[in-house]
Amino acid sequence: MAQKDTAQENTASAETAKLVLQNIGHAWLGRTVFEHFDLVLGKGEVVALVGPSGCGKTTILQIAAGLVDPRKGRVHRHYRRHAVVFQEPRLLPWMTTRDNIAYGLKVGGTPKNSRHAIAEARALEVGLDHDDLDKYPVQLSGGMRQRAAVARALAVEPDVIFFDEPFTAVDVGLRRVLQDLVISAARRAHFSALFVTHDLAEAVRVAHRLIVLSAHDGRIIDQRIIEGEPGARDNRSIFDTVEGWSHEPLFAELFDADRRVSA
Ligand SMILES: Nc1ncnc2c1ncn2[C@@H]1O[C@H](COP(=O)(O)OP(=O)(O)OP(=O)(O)O)[C@@H](O)[C@H]1O
Ligand SMILES: [Mg+2]
Repeated sequence: MAQKDTAQENTASAETAKLVLQNIGHAWLGRTVFEHFDLVLGKGEVVALVGPSGCGKTTILQIAAGLVDPRKGRVHRHYRRHAVVFQEPRLLPWMTTRDNIAYGLKVGGTPKNSRHAIAEARALEVGLDHDDLDKYPVQLSGGMRQRAAVARALAVEPDVIFFDEPFTAVDVGLRRVLQDLVISAARRAHFSALFVTHDLAEAVRVAHRLIVLSAHDGRIIDQRIIEGEPGARDNRSIFDTVEGWSHEPLFAELFDADRRVSA
């Protein structure tokens, strides 16, 4: 879809948006990462953010989540709660899976019985077993830890979830399972999400809209609505979309940069 149409849609949704980033600029150690970043995240909308390594995706996500103060611009959050899922699971090693998943609820003051019941429900939802709840992170596989990290995010019933390359470190088959899990959880719980990824197929699978950042200055070089609904797109259409896009000059920078990294 043309950039203009998408821009119009953004403006239209600004009133009901969950998150608005307005003219955000940031620099680390005096080096500018980006100067004028704007984003409107609608209710129930999943926006994928792609761009070459080092272009500023994590920085944007950290600013959006309030983990980093931007050097300029404003962040408007119209929601109660958010959660973050990082590339690595970041579970607390001295806590069981149950307590890790329930951690945010404990901090929020949810009584033990309720938070354990919620943790258990979320654990089963992400494909963990009852037996896994009493295990410590060291006793879980990498994939199970990442499932627990997703369950921990879902447990607090967030309105917005920030995903920073959450499935990059898991193998391809499980990645697909976890993507589908996020899609079905988003449908059930109606959260909005900002989903950083290097994987265009992942973006096309999970998101409603794609934002592409430039390698050099974190500028938005394109954004487009992804046809169909997440969860309703079949593998063939996802493959065809990615295949079609990968021949566009716009994505050359992205693919070339990734090829250089993996070479
Ligand atoms: N805490 C920090 N202190 C100093 N510089 C930082 C910090 N975090 C990021 N940077 C720099 O800011 C730039 C953007 O980094 P960022 O992590 O946002 O990129 P990214 O797009 O997420 O990359 P990747 O795809 O590799 O995760 C890089 O040049 C990086 O070195
Ligand atoms: Mg990053």
